[in-house]
Amino acid sequence: MAKILFAKPTVEKIVVRLKSECEALKNKNITPKLRVLLVGEHAPSVLYTRNKKKFIESFGGICEILNLPAAITEEEFLGKLNEASNDQSIHGLFVQLPLPKHLSHIDVGQLVPPAKDVDGFHAESLYHLLRGEDQGMVSCTPKGIITLLKENNIEMSGKNAVVIGRSMIVGKPMSMLLTNENATVTMCHSRTKDLKEITKRADIIICALGKARFLTKEYLSPSQDVTIIDVGINHDENGVLCGDADFEHIQEYCCAISPVPGGVGPLTIASLGENLIKAASGSLQ
Ligand code: GUN
Repeated sequence: MAKILFAKPTVEKIVVRLKSECEALKNKNITPKLRVLLVGEHAPSVLYTRNKKKFIESFGGICEILNLPAAITEEEFLGKLNEASNDQSIHGLFVQLPLPKHLSHIDVGQLVPPAKDVDGFHAESLYHLLRGEDQGMVSCTPKGIITLLKENNIEMSGKNAVVIGRSMIVGKPMSMLLTNENATVTMCHSRTKDLKEITKRADIIICALGKARFLTKEYLSPSQDVTIIDVGINHDENGVLCGDADFEHIQEYCCAISPVPGGVGPLTIASLGENLIKAASGSLQ
């Protein structure tokens, strides 16, 4: 039977470490502070930012959610972003995505200063990621997945890793992180031919395409030695929350699988906490 890769034990360990690092910063008169710009009332974004705030506060940090009206003008929005970028008391900053349509052309990742870029979206952060250097911020979901794999002693070096989905937030940085861990990475997407043949040869599958229960047993080899990391947060036709993998029916075809909910999601938030502490520590230099 597959091992279920629950986030909880890993997140609990991270919280212990973050509490102590936060305390050490406070002793140097720095209280790690995160500013979140949330535009409008997009329900999942309201929920995600609330969960992020709760986590940051759980280890002693400050999280301010600036809820801006959906109809805010581009000028006003950029003004709020600029204000937070220049505020010395704010160590980490991000804009919760998606933005309303009239603002969606703004490349917010490039407007947040790299030192405060807890999302890891800035070109400078991406450059460090490409070079396999530790000084930049790494996008929270891929970072959390690497943590989950390491904490569960899942070997990456020399393994065949298949990433399904090529988004800027998950698929692309995920491929690079796995490459940096010495995995042999295949990136797949909607135009990939013979996906099933590729996934059947995988040791690790990262499923991040946003399609409810897409990954079925037909994509897996009978050898049961694949680890599946499910990044999806979907609702099926009955409104039931589910991942990109058909969790109930593929457990006998894999050796480990992350659940939805309770898998990648909490680790994404824990990685945000790690990035905030890193940003606050960086402000000391
Ligand atoms: N919306 C969904 N995921 C993310 C994320 O990782 N960062 C930001 N800023 N917005 C998101």
